[in-house]
Amino acid sequence: MADRRSPAGVFADIVSRITALERRISPLPTRLGARGMEVTDLDEALEYGTYWARVSAANNPVGNIALVEVFPYGPEDPGYHRIMQEARFPTITSSNQIKTWRRVLDVANGTWTPWVEVSQAIIDAVPNPAWGDVTGKPSSFPSTWSDVSGKPSTFPSTWGDVSGKPSTFPPSAHTQPWGDVTSKPSTFTPSAHTHAASDIASGTFAAARLPASTESAIGGIEIATQAEVNAGTDNTRAVTPSKLRNSANIPWAMAAGITTTPSSGYQTVTFPSGRFSQPPVVTATNGAPSVVTISRVVNVTTTSFQVGTWTVAGTQINGRDVMWTAVQMSSGSGPG
Ligand SMILES: [Fe+2]
Repeated sequence: MADRRSPAGVFADIVSRITALERRISPLPTRLGARGMEVTDLDEALEYGTYWARVSAANNPVGNIALVEVFPYGPEDPGYHRIMQEARFPTITSSNQIKTWRRVLDVANGTWTPWVEVSQAIIDAVPNPAWGDVTGKPSSFPSTWSDVSGKPSTFPSTWGDVSGKPSTFPPSAHTQPWGDVTSKPSTFTPSAHTHAASDIASGTFAAARLPASTESAIGGIEIATQAEVNAGTDNTRAVTPSKLRNSANIPWAMAAGITTTPSSGYQTVTFPSGRFSQPPVVTATNGAPSVVTISRVVNVTTTSFQVGTWTVAGTQINGRDVMWTAVQMSSGSGPG
């Protein structure tokens, strides 16, 4: 410190006294006063000092009256120019219940950090409870490892040392997506099974899928042509009623019978109803071998014919038995 009696000392003393005097006579800003300055938005409290804000103030983290201190830093270095705010909730009489929040403004960017509650006093309804008031405490507190009862005798350090572990660990019931299943077969052969005939509702069986028709088994069979029926040599095809009746080798229709000529004239013989579609060929012969007669057939139609009997000498003789046969060889002609 300079000697007060030197010129520099006298000058410094004068400056000090003037400064002290100025402090006494110059009113301090409210933020530097004893009660601080009220702000309605804590974003506006940027200069060093003490502020306070009501609960309605903007950016008040307390949710009640807030007492705020502002600490600027680094104004000489704009790159590190920060302003820290520290807000407290001081209105409760117990110092144990004071809470504190802090945030920082990066002046260059104009961005505030969020308010962070940096301390919360322990609300201690019973600051120093008596040991006897503590409930549920154990009856004894082992102080050494050997005092701990019920501890296992060994403590396996590797999985292999763990005894009594199960050999398998069945998973609990769960499902897997189809896509997770690997090595799936590309086709799925059905297990052996059968179908009811009624399940087949469309399509036509190939001939190879049908069993052969034999004299002892029902199966598929081909229809014979008319030529095959007429040839009479095929033994694997079926004959239809139409082709049977139109075979060149058998009559289309036949009838036969015995009649007796009347006492005079011709005997009319009626064919079975519907038997012939064309007048058949009728052959009549003597039905009484002891007497030779000649039979004569006349008036053959599709429904009847007439027959008379004569002696060899040419005299009509009556009351003779006659055996007759009528044949229609094809559907359009009696002789065929
Ligand atoms: Fe099937």
